[in-house]
Amino acid sequence: MSTPIQATTGPAHTAVLGLGAYRPSRLVSNHDIVDRIDSSDEWIQQRSGIKTRRFAEPHETVQMMSVESSRIALERAGIAPEQIDCVIVATVSHMLQTPAVATAVAHELGTNQAAAFDISAACAGFCHGVAMASDMVRAGSAGHVLVVGVERLSDITDPYDRGTAFIFADGAGAVVVGPAETPGIGPVVWGSDGEQFDLIRQREDWRDVIESDAPTMPHLVMQGNAVFRWASYAMAKVAQQALEVAGITVEDLDVFVPHQANMRIIDAMARSMKLPSHVAIARDVADQGNTSAASIPLALDRMIAEGEAKSGDTALLIAFGAGLAYAAQVVTVP
Ligand SMILES: CC(C)(COP(=O)(O)OP(=O)(O)OC[C@H]1O[C@@H](n2cnc3c(N)ncnc32)[C@H](O)[C@@H]1OP(=O)(O)O)[C@@H](O)C(=O)NCCC(=O)NCCS
Repeated sequence: MSTPIQATTGPAHTAVLGLGAYRPSRLVSNHDIVDRIDSSDEWIQQRSGIKTRRFAEPHETVQMMSVESSRIALERAGIAPEQIDCVIVATVSHMLQTPAVATAVAHELGTNQAAAFDISAACAGFCHGVAMASDMVRAGSAGHVLVVGVERLSDITDPYDRGTAFIFADGAGAVVVGPAETPGIGPVVWGSDGEQFDLIRQREDWRDVIESDAPTMPHLVMQGNAVFRWASYAMAKVAQQALEVAGITVEDLDVFVPHQANMRIIDAMARSMKLPSHVAIARDVADQGNTSAASIPLALDRMIAEGEAKSGDTALLIAFGAGLAYAAQVVTVP
């Protein structure tokens, strides 16, 4: 008989141990962009709730913003870079097809040659990363995992596109996931609907760009109406399922942190879930725009900073976007 392969096991429970965020320095108001898209501050605020957003300056690269937010997360978690065994970066705006930016982030932070890779789940990427990190720790394949959500969507958004130019923005957020005495990260509810693959996508394949006579950046394109309907209705059910698998109800929630896509989607979800008035709802989109994979850690960081969420609170995270892909889980606020 052959020697059995050894299996690893880890601690029973995991938690988010620390959270950090990076907001780019350049503030961009609706007035700064309306002329290019024949729009108005009033229209943008009414349709999306967005008043301002932040665009990265040249030095605020995907790597730089990842490292800055990660340093804060590590510091707050009380974890040294060498204790990180894996770095997961969720992004769709790292400009190299390969290698993953996560390897450069791991190196710059000074991890001890941690495993490092990027994931492409668009706006749902951060919650995918948290789910994977939690399962890795519980399975014993990593002691601590750093999860970063980062985007420079200003690089891949057409500033003249009326459907997207006022929505997308830049930023980064990071968390350290590690062992805990009690459950701090609930089971993930995740999935995808590839039948709606074309609703939010890179306009064309890189090969078509290269072969065209006048190559230009293949910007993001979005069928806003269809995305709005899907997010407003289907995602409230996913949020409800995430509560159920965590064994709690809306009454037990302190904080609701949905992907900061659009204020009307956030309001529709909160109504549909019948959130009690005591639940604080993240509304970072008003000042930050939609930062895709970075939006949930940025929003939670702000709620903590402004006293709307505190350590030990029970928070529901739900992220959704291109793919269409989605993921939700209940976490304890670090
Ligand atoms: C993008 C979004 C705000 C557009 O709103 P909408 O009501 O669907 O807009 P429509 O494309 O149907 O256009 C409605 C009207 O507004 C006009 N319009 C479209 N874009 C405009 C703009 N940027 N400024 C001013 N007017 C605009 C259209 O011309 C149209 O005018 P008409 O009624 O005179 O023909 C909305 O679809 C949305 O919020 N979608 C979800 C987007 C999102 O959150 N995506 C991220 C998910 S990760």
